[in-house]
Amino acid sequence: MLKPNKLANNNFLSSLDLSNDEVFHILELASNFKDKKINIDPNNKVLGLIFDKSSTRTRVSFQVAMSRLGGTTIDLNPTTSQIGRGEPIRDTARVLSRYCDVIAIRTFNHSDLEEYAKWSTKPVINALTDLEHPCQALADFLTIQEEFIDFKDVILTFIGDGNNVANSLILCGALLGVEVRIACPKGYEPNSLVLKKAYEIYKNRDLLKITNDPYSAVIGANVLYTDVWSSMGQENTKEDKDKKFEGFTIDDNLLAKADKNAIILHCLPAYRSKEITDKVMESKNSRIFEQAENRLHAQQALLYCLLS
Ligand code: CP
Ligand code: NVA
Repeated sequence: MLKPNKLANNNFLSSLDLSNDEVFHILELASNFKDKKINIDPNNKVLGLIFDKSSTRTRVSFQVAMSRLGGTTIDLNPTTSQIGRGEPIRDTARVLSRYCDVIAIRTFNHSDLEEYAKWSTKPVINALTDLEHPCQALADFLTIQEEFIDFKDVILTFIGDGNNVANSLILCGALLGVEVRIACPKGYEPNSLVLKKAYEIYKNRDLLKITNDPYSAVIGANVLYTDVWSSMGQENTKEDKDKKFEGFTIDDNLLAKADKNAIILHCLPAYRSKEITDKVMESKNSRIFEQAENRLHAQQALLYCLLS
């Protein structure tokens, strides 16, 4: 196998920093890499991260997961890459998939994510869109499994906005056969196509219920889950939503109606005193930080599968 020679210069500031021999040597190495004649550590893979919205958990858990797998990540910040300039997704995707082994994308329109996946020759992961947050759901069900071992008799009640997080919980819940109840104000029900798909998967239609009454939804529930009322990109509707979501706060009163061993989940970040009280967040029922930790483990497993 061809080995690299030490270059005379430490920097490469000009073409003239290389000798003629060195240029030939680099070209030969490059051809060998291209033709996969050089065996590098198979774990040494690269994850590209494109985040059009802010993130703490998803970004960091992907970075740590990749590093634990022996790979690296590249933060393709849209404002400092050509993505922000509006380079077409089909061009960006074709280029990035020649450099990266897998790409995780957080963006607004789900159709943009699908466009990346259409043009990328490498796996694309949804790191949250306006429609879904499937990596979150993997970690959520890992947390539920750790608590209850078996999904069979688990009732998961989501209280709040029937948005991306709720949509993915419904779909993943349907796959696992978990009873899912969604309680949201009128007009904030989950995506109708998501519901249609979930009902097709569930063998028993009674396992998925959508209601506008949080109290009936929590009776006997084993898991109470909530998310922010106004998601990223909806900041201008915050005042209006805060009013419409009154009564949908997970507080002691709602918790008291659930199973006595019910656990509390929240994808985070949270607005205390809006969708959840500080007291419930910090209560012994909360598994919110175990859930956040599980983002790392679930995504490491996902990456491992996609990269193998
Ligand atoms: N739950 C979640 O996706 O958090 P971040 O927005 O911090 O990534
Ligand atoms: N529904 C929230 C989830 C944040 C992780 C949002 O989209 O902002």
